Amino acid sequence: MPPQDLGHCPTDLGVARLFITVPPTMQHPSATSPTARYSLVAMGLHWLMALVLIGLFGVGVYMVDLPVSPARLKLYNWHKWAGVTVLALALVRLLWRLWKRPPPLPQTMLLAMPAWQRLAHHGTHGLMYVLFFAVPLTGWAYSSASGFRVMWFGRIPLPDFVAADKALAEAIKPWHAYSAYALATLAALHIAAALKHHAIDRDGLLARMWPAGKRTAH
Ligand code: HEM
Ligand code: HEM
Repeated sequence: MPPQDLGHCPTDLGVARLFITVPPTMQHPSATSPTARYSLVAMGLHWLMALVLIGLFGVGVYMVDLPVSPARLKLYNWHKWAGVTVLALALVRLLWRLWKRPPPLPQTMLLAMPAWQRLAHHGTHGLMYVLFFAVPLTGWAYSSASGFRVMWFGRIPLPDFVAADKALAEAIKPWHAYSAYALATLAALHIAAALKHHAIDRDGLLARMWPAGKRTAH
């Protein structure tokens, strides 16, 4: 493909390119600059969600073993409205990602990665996006089915996601835990991979998601 043929460049395929790896040989050279980085909005959403998700996971694991008390109730409420906030942030993040494409990995990095690693890189990101929705939605559905309304920021009542139904609540409950643990596992693998790129490969991958420093387009 001629390099000037941007109209047919596979990096411009919009939604279809959301989590697909484009082989380095098919990428337009200008799209794979080694210093191209995520937009500031994408970085802000990444780090904000990373912090809130780590907090939510920790609080979730801690609160379920507490004896019934006002403190437990407070943590449950905080966990629920912060979890719904993650759902809203995930929606904004997905729309932003569809609108502003992330910078493709530089050719040097892609060529250094075996096919399974490229698949793992994009697959992990794609699955985490799915879980950004699945985890809060199962939590909300469980809360509604148990007959507890979610109060956003402790004040704004949110609609019930499903009708109160004890059997349904018991069926949904483990799925909230499974999906939350799956997200935590992927996030742990993702963090380990990011740190390996930074400390061992020293290929500048972390700089793509780090706000400080020089930037090119994207
Ligand atoms: C992405 C956001 C969320 C994460 C990472 C998360 C994570 C967790 C975790 C790790 C647990 C403990 C599971 C266990 O060990 O049994 C938990 C429990 C719980 N979560 Fe979430 N959660 C999120 C969002 C929500 C939302 C939006 C709601 C409700 C609106 C919610 C409601 C609950 C409830 C009620 C429990 C307690 C279940 C029980 O009593 O066993 N969560 N969550
Ligand atoms: C120390 C913590 C973390 C570090 C160092 C880190 C690092 C990074 C880096 C460098 C990228 C860009 C990868 C690329 O250039 O293609 C990235 C993307 C991403 N990270 Fe993290 N991350 C961390 C925590 C998390 C957590 C906790 C989550 C979610 C639970 C997460 C979810 C994501 C997702 C979904 C993307 C893909 C963004 C997109 O393409 O739209 N990260 N992260």
